Amino acid sequence: MAAAEKQPVTITCAGPLNGVLSGVLTWADQRFPLMSLWRDHLAEYYAPKNFNFWYYFGSLAMLVLVLQIATGIFLVMHYKPDAALAFASVEYIMRDVPGGWLIRYMHSTGASAFFIVVYLHMFRGLMYGSYRKPRELIWIFGMLIYLSLMAEAFFGYLLPWGQMSYWGAQVIVNLFDALPIIGPDLSLWIRGDYVVSDATLNRFFSFHVIAIPLVLLGLVAAHIMALHEVGSNNPDGVEIKKVTDPKTGHPVDGIPFHPYYTVKDTLGAVVFAIVFCVIMFFMPELGGYFLEYNNFIPADPLKTPAHIAPVWYFTPYYSILRATTEDFMWVLGLALVAYSALLAGTLRIQAARVAVAAIAAVLLAGFFTIDPKVWGVVLMGAATLIFFLLPWLDQSPVKSIRYKGTLCRSALAVFVIVFLILGYYGTQPVTTGGTLISQVCTLLYFAFFLLMPWYTRMDKTTPEPERVTG
Ligand code: HEM
Repeated sequence: MAAAEKQPVTITCAGPLNGVLSGVLTWADQRFPLMSLWRDHLAEYYAPKNFNFWYYFGSLAMLVLVLQIATGIFLVMHYKPDAALAFASVEYIMRDVPGGWLIRYMHSTGASAFFIVVYLHMFRGLMYGSYRKPRELIWIFGMLIYLSLMAEAFFGYLLPWGQMSYWGAQVIVNLFDALPIIGPDLSLWIRGDYVVSDATLNRFFSFHVIAIPLVLLGLVAAHIMALHEVGSNNPDGVEIKKVTDPKTGHPVDGIPFHPYYTVKDTLGAVVFAIVFCVIMFFMPELGGYFLEYNNFIPADPLKTPAHIAPVWYFTPYYSILRATTEDFMWVLGLALVAYSALLAGTLRIQAARVAVAAIAAVLLAGFFTIDPKVWGVVLMGAATLIFFLLPWLDQSPVKSIRYKGTLCRSALAVFVIVFLILGYYGTQPVTTGGTLISQVCTLLYFAFFLLMPWYTRMDKTTPEPERVTG
């Protein structure tokens, strides 16, 4: 609507500057949807009144995103994206730039904090079925954020040009080598050279500081817009929009986001900041988990470290990659046959059953003719991508874990334990026992998703209440 046609709204503010502030805000509102944005997304965004501890992590993820961008801007002022200068420029930031050490530690601690917060945020989604209809798109945007975040962390990790930066990138980019036909050309294209080099550092820098952050910001905006379109879920999994006050039209079980949840989220941010500061000031390396010790040694293309491991947030997937050995292909083959039989047995259309059998036969042939390393890469990719399917795999009549039965509860508990075990073994050097445990965990990891349509239907649920229970 043109400024001249817009209904004049006078915004009043409290305090001594009332007159000036109100005037500026009213002037701006005539030219920009200031008040409607405020109303739609804060003052009149009605959120369920029963949000609990698990609802802190969305706003915390936003806080960490802002922290990473702000500290990143200052780091780039002193960092040199040049293989000959990068390591020394980080040391210069740590020792000579005033406050440089603080900015660097904020950024490195922020990277791990981001993943902790996002993993807890995703776990909340799993517990309360927040991915279920009508929130499928919120979940899909969330998953795209998660993948972008992994790319952002991977590209950023090369920048300090330490031994782990260098060899970690070398190992991961070399994985693409294993792909049939296109593999060698693809990895050469990613690196821009035959080994990880200055060309690689330059392109990773470019992706880390501009391309991926832009994508992340766009995705977070889409994530929040989709959330505010359908409304938030809650620990009961009840749709609060179903019961509204006839006079106001607002959900009876909803409260305005501002001031109720802005205050709650501020408390969360303060507690988070305290924990963050304790780690940042007293143990920024966190025993080698947040900053790996080998990364304090400059990159040396002629000296491979004895034990190369990615940072902790990638290690569950790294374990799955390493678990895929030649022997394990037999177990995977057996699991594939059993799963296809189960699937074919439940399909009513003959053509669908034939399609399942054909796909299984092709995969099975591939298992024993293509290098297990390729299957390791495929399984690692599948382990992240399979989360996208959750909205359709979960067939339970109820959303929240509160009303699900023993089967679903146990499945989620086992999944979390398995994820942690895989994470642990991914940080450790390869041993026979560790590989065996990782293989069992890999099977359980995929079983959580692939068997979900069956166990969510068989589970004994209790009926969801009409209204939230508090
Ligand atoms: C930069 C990362 C992210 C940011 C800043 C972010 C932000 C938010 C915020 C502010 C909310 C509303 C408050 C809340 O429910 O806690 C939310 C809700 C949600 N997010 Fe995220 N998120 C991020 C990543 C993810 C990821 C990786 C997923 C899952 C794959 C995800 C899935 C969801 C879902 C399903 C909801 C709705 C939850 C409900 O209503 O119960 N988000 N997000």
